[in-house]
Amino acid sequence: MEPKKIKEGVYWAGAEDWDRRLFDSLIPLPDGTSYNAYIVKGRDKTALIDTVDPTKAKTLLTFLDSLERLDYIIAQHAEQDHSGTIPSVLKKFPEAKVLSTPKGKEFLTDLLELPSDAIVIVADNETLDLGGKTLEFLHTPWIHWPETMSTYLREDAILFTCDLFGSHLASSNIYVDDFARVCEASKRYYAEVMMPFRATIKKHMERFEKFKIEIIAPSHGPVHRDPARIIASHGEWVSDKLSNTVVIPYATMHGSTEALVESLTDALVERGVFVDRFNIAVTDAGKLAMALVDAPTVVFGTPTILIGAHPFAMHAAFMVNALRPKMKYSSVIGSFGWGGKAAEQIVSAISGTKAEVLEPVMVKGRPKAGDFERIGRLAGDIVKRHSGLGLL
Ligand code: FEO
Repeated sequence: MEPKKIKEGVYWAGAEDWDRRLFDSLIPLPDGTSYNAYIVKGRDKTALIDTVDPTKAKTLLTFLDSLERLDYIIAQHAEQDHSGTIPSVLKKFPEAKVLSTPKGKEFLTDLLELPSDAIVIVADNETLDLGGKTLEFLHTPWIHWPETMSTYLREDAILFTCDLFGSHLASSNIYVDDFARVCEASKRYYAEVMMPFRATIKKHMERFEKFKIEIIAPSHGPVHRDPARIIASHGEWVSDKLSNTVVIPYATMHGSTEALVESLTDALVERGVFVDRFNIAVTDAGKLAMALVDAPTVVFGTPTILIGAHPFAMHAAFMVNALRPKMKYSSVIGSFGWGGKAAEQIVSAISGTKAEVLEPVMVKGRPKAGDFERIGRLAGDIVKRHSGLGLL
């Protein structure tokens, strides 16, 4: 198998992982993923940008059979889906030097036990001339880890961004051929791992504005030959822009919480607010994460199990707290039989979001007329807040 040419001297040498369905034992991958590695050949030197997940090492090593020599392995990110095959590549090309940020060197040493003299630190904005191919290293910490960098290939105006602008999408076409599909996969990826770092990503994107970019080559998913579109999409996700939407993740056991969710949905929709509802017992967590990208309000629905919130509702609360979405308001609705602390547990679990908590509606047994009136008042409070944000 030969590497696929992107430009003269620039090749894709990655691996498609069609059947992977879970990342980090947590993140659903409905469309698989790819691990993209790139070969850049100058007149004098050759560099490999990122490697592949170790499960696909053979694919990359086969691509590298076509190289007479390899001088540099550019480790843009130490997470093992990109760095995990570096030891095998070094075995094949022992003379190659691994280039990384200072933090990258620390992580590569910790995670892969690479000998520290195999790793050379590159400074922010440092350039490397391969002979007619100039690479500029741009430190971009906190894409989601603190050691990440991007690499700009000047002569071809290609920006290699590793996870940023990537998508978990396996495809036989290394280029974007259906932007809507790639964009949704990219939004899912952004929402699942990058959302907590949106302020930092925004700054990195502002820095990229100085560069002429003709191609964005991420290390997951298809390559963008029309980069303006994926840049614009990310620009919207990292902006302060909010939608007029309430996200309701909920669990229900015997229907009481579901009846409250139904009532709140109707009350909000009647007042002109959109609702994204997720029964989290059967929801793909990526769909919930995507809904959180620009929602100002999240209302959790939970029955009481034993003495507290339903574990699935707690899982959603934990996820919302970790992902730090733009949300400004939250609440809890649900039911209990004889007591418990379900609402308090949810509120405590999302304390990191700093969202204002609107009066929870917890109901004893089946909801009755007075309970639905309380739901109506909660809907009214949400409408007021959304109006205050200029969304209505
Ligand atoms: Fe694709 Fe953060 O690794």
